Amino acid sequence: MINLVLFGPPGAGKGTQSENIIQKFGLIHLSTGDLLRAEIGAGTALGLEAKKLMDQGILVPDAVVIGMIENKINDNKTAPGFIFDGFPRTVAQAEALDQVLAKHDLEITTMIALEVNEEVLTSRLLERGKTSGRPDDQNEELIRKRVQEYNNKTAPVANYYLGQHKFNSINGIGEIDQIFAEIVAILES
Ligand code: AP5
Repeated sequence: MINLVLFGPPGAGKGTQSENIIQKFGLIHLSTGDLLRAEIGAGTALGLEAKKLMDQGILVPDAVVIGMIENKINDNKTAPGFIFDGFPRTVAQAEALDQVLAKHDLEITTMIALEVNEEVLTSRLLERGKTSGRPDDQNEELIRKRVQEYNNKTAPVANYYLGQHKFNSINGIGEIDQIFAEIVAILES
């Protein structure tokens, strides 16, 4: 069983590579960004509160995303494994994820960090913003804020997995298929 944390800054390619991984390994994709956007789309109270923060490029509170992930894991008890995309984004979230998985006798198998520099991220997200309509991709200032949140709150999560000997890092710049091949090599090793 594979339980993968796919890690990296905004625009690193987590969503893109998740699609390939799902096709090959049949894992359940849990993206907290997608789950939050679904709440916004449904007009729930949680979604309305989250939108205020997401539109400013700020992380939503840990308790909100931990609760969403716990519900999804509980709903998919017979899953062949999970890809966590955009989660955990703080050390507190990483600790909570371990606790939730442990209740089901599960654990994170491996963490893969996609390394992409800020210049490339910014250009990818501005390009995507033209067609995706994502409010947080609309201008450089907002993208800079998201990267700042990543550097301050999320980057330390890498050390958490380093300490558990589950950390892997690959270059996220290059052909999508080539990056996917490197991910497969890690997952099959
Ligand atoms: P979220 O939805 O998770 O967004 P993100 O992390 O900012 O990631 P993105 O979806 O922007 O990028 P990605 O890495 O998936 O890249 P993609 O494959 O799309 O979070 C949004 C917000 O929700 C957060 O700011 C926060 O407010 C809140 N939130 C979410 N989770 C939270 C949590 N756990 N805790 C607290 N708050 C949370 O690729 C990007 C573009 O690049 C695409 O156009 C793609 O086609 C292109 N691309 C991908 N790979 C390549 C390549 N190799 N070469 C060229 N182009 C490429």
